[in-house]
Amino acid sequence: MSVPCKTSSAATKLILVVVLPLIVCSVIIVGRSSFGFSISLNSSVSENTESERPLLTHNEGVLFSTSSNINGSSSSSSSSQDVFIRSKNVLNSVTISTRAAKTFSKLQRLEAGLARARAGIRNASQNKTSHEEDRNLLPLRTIYRNRHEFHQSYLEMEKIFKIFIYEEGSAPLFHDGPCKGIYSTEGMFIQGIEFNKHFRTWDPDRAHVYFLPFSIGKMVRYLYVRDSHDIGPIKRTVVDYANFIARKYPYWNRSLGADHFILSCHDWAPHTSSYVPYLYKNSIRAFCNANTSEGFYPSKDVSFPEINLRKGHLPVIIDGLPPSNRTILAFFAGKLHGTIRIKLLEHWKDKDEEVVVYERLPKELSYGTMMRKSKFCLCPSGYEVASPRIVEAIYSQCVPVLLSDHYIPPFSDILNWNSFSVQLSVNDIPNLKKILMGISEEHYMEMHRNLKQVRSHFMVNDPPVRFDAFHMTIHSIWLRRLNIRIN
Ligand SMILES: *[C@@H]1O[C@H](CO)[C@@H](O)[C@H](O)[C@H]1NC(C)=O
Ligand SMILES: *[C@@H]1O[C@H](CO)[C@@H](O)[C@H](O)[C@H]1NC(C)=O
Ligand SMILES: *[C@@H]1O[C@H](CO)[C@@H](O)[C@H](O)[C@H]1NC(C)=O
Ligand SMILES: *[C@@H]1O[C@H](CO)[C@@H](O)[C@H](O)[C@H]1NC(C)=O
Ligand SMILES: *[C@@H]1O[C@H](CO)[C@@H](O)[C@H](O)[C@H]1NC(C)=O
Ligand SMILES: *[C@@H]1O[C@H](CO)[C@@H](O)[C@H](O)[C@H]1NC(C)=O
Ligand SMILES: *[C@@H]1O[C@H](CO)[C@@H](O)[C@H](O)[C@H]1NC(C)=O
Repeated sequence: MSVPCKTSSAATKLILVVVLPLIVCSVIIVGRSSFGFSISLNSSVSENTESERPLLTHNEGVLFSTSSNINGSSSSSSSSQDVFIRSKNVLNSVTISTRAAKTFSKLQRLEAGLARARAGIRNASQNKTSHEEDRNLLPLRTIYRNRHEFHQSYLEMEKIFKIFIYEEGSAPLFHDGPCKGIYSTEGMFIQGIEFNKHFRTWDPDRAHVYFLPFSIGKMVRYLYVRDSHDIGPIKRTVVDYANFIARKYPYWNRSLGADHFILSCHDWAPHTSSYVPYLYKNSIRAFCNANTSEGFYPSKDVSFPEINLRKGHLPVIIDGLPPSNRTILAFFAGKLHGTIRIKLLEHWKDKDEEVVVYERLPKELSYGTMMRKSKFCLCPSGYEVASPRIVEAIYSQCVPVLLSDHYIPPFSDILNWNSFSVQLSVNDIPNLKKILMGISEEHYMEMHRNLKQVRSHFMVNDPPVRFDAFHMTIHSIWLRRLNIRIN
């Protein structure tokens, strides 16, 4: 089977020698205080309050707050209702300079299109009766927070959403990404969007969002000297690149990065994005490492899945045994890294016949077989919050048990994770068995069925197909763009 992205060979190292000096040449030191025009940003509400309120835990499952516009000040008072409208540190409105006036009417037209899409989605959410069903959309209501809204939003996205990719930079650091191993969704997406005919536009004035197509996974591989603790080369590359884009094109300054996005599955992505303050604060950052303690903002940023394409092959799905034949209550095997796993192994390694926890899987056992005959698959965070086990569990219809703190699971703006997974905090580890045994047969059967329904959203396809992991990621970005308005 072919792979959605082509793994770059050793020859790409040669290209680097050419690419890097090019980038360095374009270094422009920008005085941040000297803006050429007036920008009004409303950030009067402190950012920290964001993490204190429950995130995406509401029941209504609305994509939008009741107040329709992206008006920071007005929606902040009813913040417990908001899922999607970002009120705090995202920009409210950006006043356009006369310099950018040429593109003004084009921008207005784009914004009008977005406003129509918003109205359509809101309309769909109110109309809970029959709807034109999409055959690709999964039938079960429970796996979605609001199925009608999602469906409508997806259709609106397909109708109008356009992404511009800055062409500057060369592989392997740009327009490319890892295609094998735990960071492969990064390469999958970057190359997928590069070759996408539907959403990609070559005309930046027709774009709703702008993609900065650098790969943090590749930067760590090519620019970071192992154990050197010197992150300088990565920092310089990202900062120089962002400055270059801001100087060459009007779009970055126009929104202070709010309609720009980056994407990475690497552990270091949150930190790397912090080298460019507006990128960190305003831009849409699609990360596997969606750790709210590391500055991940669920309504601005996008959590997307970590999928381990071990040899670069597309996943092969084997359903596993029917629930009654799954003889192991809970299963985990994995290396000890990060504090959560230490706690898990401490409590459960070699302790119980039904909660089977290994640090190293015995040779005679197969990891896949174990997952397929377990009722629950434990997915503790490792060095970072995300774990490829979550998607592996979904593939093998083993109900994932997310053991993490501060993690926002992928697509949780759309998917109702409680309908197909168990989410526990680190403090629940000692009571793990009791909690899992306490889940009723009926509830388990429902989660097990839902896993099969939700699976298509986590599939990797070549070429991508509607509603799969690639398109769900684009949809998440689309939703974030819908939630800001650029004037
Ligand atoms: C946005 O909020 C301001 C102040 O809270 C208010 O005066 C204004 O009418 C709001 N804008 C819209 C479009 O609702
Ligand atoms: C920001 O919002 C507050 C209300 O929360 C309002 O009083 C203030 O005028 C707004 N500032 C700007 C620059 O819009
Ligand atoms: C809302 O739904 C109604 C009935 O389906 C339709 O007539 C109307 O045009 C819709 N409005 C928008 C803005 O889509
Ligand atoms: C809801 O949707 C149905 C089917 O599309 C339509 O016939 C009906 O008019 C809609 N109702 C409202 C209030 O928009
Ligand atoms: C964007 O702003 C920076 C910093 O103020 C400035 O140096 C740069 O020239 C601006 N870019 C454009 C295209 O005007
Ligand atoms: C499940 O278990 C039943 C009874 O033990 C057995 O007959 C059946 O073949 C098993 N199914 C699978 C798929 O292994
Ligand atoms: C999440 O971020 C916090 C703050 O940086 C860190 O202490 C914690 O270890 C992270 N979680 C994981 C699982 O990496």
